[in-house]
Amino acid sequence: MHITIRQLQVFEAVARHLSYTRAAEELHLTQPAVSMQIKQMESSIGLPMFEQIGKKIYLTQAGDAMLVHARTIMRHLEAASEEMNDLRGEDSGRLRVAIASTVNYFATQLLADFAKENPAVEISLDVTNRESLLSRLEANLPDLALMGKPPADLDLVSESFMDNPLIVIASPDHPLANARRIALEDLAEAHFVVREPGSGTRVAMERFFSDQGFPYQKSMELMGNEAVKQGVEAGLGLAVVSAHTVEKELTLQRLVELDVDGMPIMRRWYVAYRKGKRLSPTAEAFRRFVIAAGARRSELST
Ligand code: PGA
Repeated sequence: MHITIRQLQVFEAVARHLSYTRAAEELHLTQPAVSMQIKQMESSIGLPMFEQIGKKIYLTQAGDAMLVHARTIMRHLEAASEEMNDLRGEDSGRLRVAIASTVNYFATQLLADFAKENPAVEISLDVTNRESLLSRLEANLPDLALMGKPPADLDLVSESFMDNPLIVIASPDHPLANARRIALEDLAEAHFVVREPGSGTRVAMERFFSDQGFPYQKSMELMGNEAVKQGVEAGLGLAVVSAHTVEKELTLQRLVELDVDGMPIMRRWYVAYRKGKRLSPTAEAFRRFVIAAGARRSELST
């Protein structure tokens, strides 16, 4: 079996996305180049890694097994490169941060402040919802992730750094816009615009409503916070979003926060990385920077 590291990288990306097109986009390659790498890899292994059923591709049994090895090899390579950098007393000066889409509302400012203090650092930022962020962490792609509470079954080191209150928003002309102490039952007739499956906000909202025994009504499912906010502004219904996402709209009174009993749902943001990962000095500096910024922010709000 003769396969290259490049082929393993391409294979891992296709397996993660289950899409040649999205893998090509991520790797800045053309789709035929991606297909070619996979074909060559399959012919040198002598087994297909993917199978196509209808329009979708799936990993074969061999592909599944290969993916475990590909990820292990990539992790070892990365660790080797980090250790060699350490021994040379060098820091690659690269920082790869993956964040949950909701974190984007404050992370860009954090990164800008960090970049100002560390102008030589080359930062790449990957913004995605919770579910695909977890698969990136599993593939060991980012140095650090900023996200909602990490699941216990993924081997991560994590530290919480800031509150993430989830609130109910409405358009200013909603009949309950000025009501006080609204009970959940008062929202039984209301419709909710919700985030796509895979969103951490959506999971937290559904857990809260189900704990409260409140069968909320869904009017529409929209991709990303911006679409949800616009849906609410357009009168499609109410929504549960992180307060971070609507600071501007609340100030400009394009949206209002409803005063609902039991809200906000209080969550926390975490900075996380894979257990066993050797953080570069740059990544460690950014981790501390995030925690310090979170502490400053909570001092300001108390
Ligand atoms: P998300 O946020 O809804 O953008 O995925 C992540 C989270 O709240 O855990």
